Amino acid sequence: MAHTETVRYSVEDGIALVRIVNPPVNALSAAVRAGLVEAARRATDDPAVVAMVIAAEGRTFIAGADITEFGKPPVPPILPHAIAALEDVPKPVVAAIGGAALGGGLEVALGCHARIAAPAARLGLPEIKLGLIPGAGGTQRLPRLIGAVAALRLMTDGSPIDAAAALALGMIDAIAEGDLLPAAIARARALAASAAAPRRSRDATSLGPREAFEAEAAALLGRHADNPSVAAAIEAVRACYSVPFEQGMEQERAAFRRLLDDPRSQALRYVFFAERASARVPRLPPGTAARPVTQAAVIGAGTMGGGIAMCFANAGIPVTLIETSAEALASGIERVGSTYDISVRRGSLAPEARAARMALITGKVGLDAAADADLVVEAVFEEMALKREVFAALDCIARPGAVLATNTSYLDVNAIAAATGRPQDVLGMHFFSPANVMKLLEVVRGAATSAEALATAVQIGSRLAKVPVVVGVCHGFVGNRMLAARSVQAERLLIEGALPQDVDAAITGFGFRMGPFAMSDLAGLDIGWRIRKATGKTAPVADALCEAGRFGQKTGKGYYLYQPGDRTPRPDPEVARLIEAVSARLGIARRPIAAAEIVERLIYPMINEGARILDEGIAARPGDIDVVWLHGYNWPAWRGGPMHHADSIGLAEVAARLAAFAAQSGDASLAPAPLLQRLAARGEGFATLREAAA
Ligand code: 3HC
Ligand code: NAI
Repeated sequence: MAHTETVRYSVEDGIALVRIVNPPVNALSAAVRAGLVEAARRATDDPAVVAMVIAAEGRTFIAGADITEFGKPPVPPILPHAIAALEDVPKPVVAAIGGAALGGGLEVALGCHARIAAPAARLGLPEIKLGLIPGAGGTQRLPRLIGAVAALRLMTDGSPIDAAAALALGMIDAIAEGDLLPAAIARARALAASAAAPRRSRDATSLGPREAFEAEAAALLGRHADNPSVAAAIEAVRACYSVPFEQGMEQERAAFRRLLDDPRSQALRYVFFAERASARVPRLPPGTAARPVTQAAVIGAGTMGGGIAMCFANAGIPVTLIETSAEALASGIERVGSTYDISVRRGSLAPEARAARMALITGKVGLDAAADADLVVEAVFEEMALKREVFAALDCIARPGAVLATNTSYLDVNAIAAATGRPQDVLGMHFFSPANVMKLLEVVRGAATSAEALATAVQIGSRLAKVPVVVGVCHGFVGNRMLAARSVQAERLLIEGALPQDVDAAITGFGFRMGPFAMSDLAGLDIGWRIRKATGKTAPVADALCEAGRFGQKTGKGYYLYQPGDRTPRPDPEVARLIEAVSARLGIARRPIAAAEIVERLIYPMINEGARILDEGIAARPGDIDVVWLHGYNWPAWRGGPMHHADSIGLAEVAARLAAFAAQSGDASLAPAPLLQRLAARGEGFATLREAAA
């Protein structure tokens, strides 16, 4: 039977040892659940067994329910029943927690009569991150065991805690001093020897006063008013006070099942798998090894270069920060120092850690300082001639095998690579601003980039705690190319009748933290203006703002007005007049535009561009595009990313609206892209492509 492979049962000296072997993370698949029920039965029925120990092989204890089973018809035994079977064993059952006990994994441990953990174990209820609540007794057993307030905090925060913290809370009974398994067996034996009946978490009486729970619940609801999982977790824990355990379990299950079907949870589960899939580099020959990186160099100590140098220092990698003059270098290093100072003042960075990180950053003038680096990241001005000059120089300076990366936002990585005699070592490493904060790293694969260089960039990205996504060469790669499609529409909406605050409100209403115009004011309007002037392009509203000296926050006014020392964007009647004048000049009769139309006008052209990006092979999977938007542009995770969002609406609807926009505006680029049309005609979604790619 399948479960005999994933759950191994043996008896030695009266102790039934149950070992879960379900790599990679011992998720509670149907076979594991069945194996646990079978083990409970055997241990109960075997008179030679005095106690049972549940352990797991590998780095994790149990990472939780098998998320791949969610959304499919449940296969019995369901997890709450499997856990009840363990809890009902009339002999002591001890959980030996060697690694992560998460979600259903912690719930299994809570169903045992005692818990002993290795010092490195981590315990938590991360269901909230998947838009869920614990669904196998976590909301009923944990509050009774450690108190409702502490339990509610854990399940609404979702982050795991370490063994020491779990012990302090009373979540586990002991931390193993030496080897875990012998310690767990010894404890099981001791419990069996004592006359006491097995201690069930459901009978624990540490719930704590209801007033404290209600105060915590009110505070949480205030902070997370728009998160249905938080409300559901509160409701479920509240049941501990009002109804018997079994009824509480039923209420928990009902809420869990309801949330499973919620589009938010579907999106968050999609994101979980998209993030993991994006870490797998497409078309990489098996056995490709990343090159070791022990020393890095960053060229240009400006906005991006300083932030990128911080990323290396934060990861403990020595980095040389290179500038053209001592003055530019000094101000770059000073900016890095003051960014760290903010963290020290906030208490998120210890002064010693600040000193250690600064010590890893060595400032140097001149490119020769890049000679020892295993990886060089260029972050000089966005000018092709300059970048080619820098790469040609690096070709003579850098050691053989060094990976040479450019942080260019838009430029042709192949043209930059061609300035060297080693294009196989050249690629893009596109960080996002602020580089020390934003998680996304677009790794741009050039036509000649070698598999090893690519693997090196991806691996170093993970070491820098970034989310690396491999993309191909095109203007703006994945993120900025789609952003450009949105920006064009945002400008048009202004000319047709909306004001910046209308557009931004529609987009924050959709779930973004910031609208496109507040974002432009933050980034500065002058750079785009200069590029447009150089390339003969226009954007009537943005150009008019720049001509009026409105460059955004840096000049105290842009699309909005800013009070000195205050970053709050305030609508400005002068901007409204300026926009109305542009509409009049272009002969456009302004009209009210509803928030729903604004959202469609901004998001659907991005999806269309995403379809082109997929068709051209610039991104390998729709999920990669979604990961780019989630981690580079703060796309709301519960909407899963633009491509998932398109699927959730239905591609036929998206295509029809795009066709209508194209007809209204006469802009053929808005017509649904061929891939979008093909999928829509077949009634399929982008997810079909994801499956094909995998
Ligand atoms: N179900 C199915 N697959 C899972 C899984 C799960 N719960 N957790 C991880 N995996 C898979 C990943 O998709 C990945 O697969 P891949 O190799 O094919 O891409 C593989 O396991 C390894 O995962 P990671 O790359 O994330 O490995 P790490 O070592 O970096 O992290 C981990 C390990 C900390 C356990 C992390 O995987 C994790 O956080 N997992 C999810 C934990 C979770 O959310 N648990 C709650 C589930 S919901 C639940 O339990 C409901 C219950 O209350 C009823
Ligand atoms: P910046 O103007 O702040 O900094 C550029 C720095 O490069 C300056 O300090 C300059 O002195 C230095 N520099 C110029 N030539 C040099 C040379 N030959 N050797 C050493 N240093 C030299 O520019 P920023 O914003 O940091 O951008 C740098 C690169 O990063 C550009 O390619 C840009 O497109 C890209 N980028 C910018 C983002 C942003 O939001 N600012 C986001 C992502 C990428």
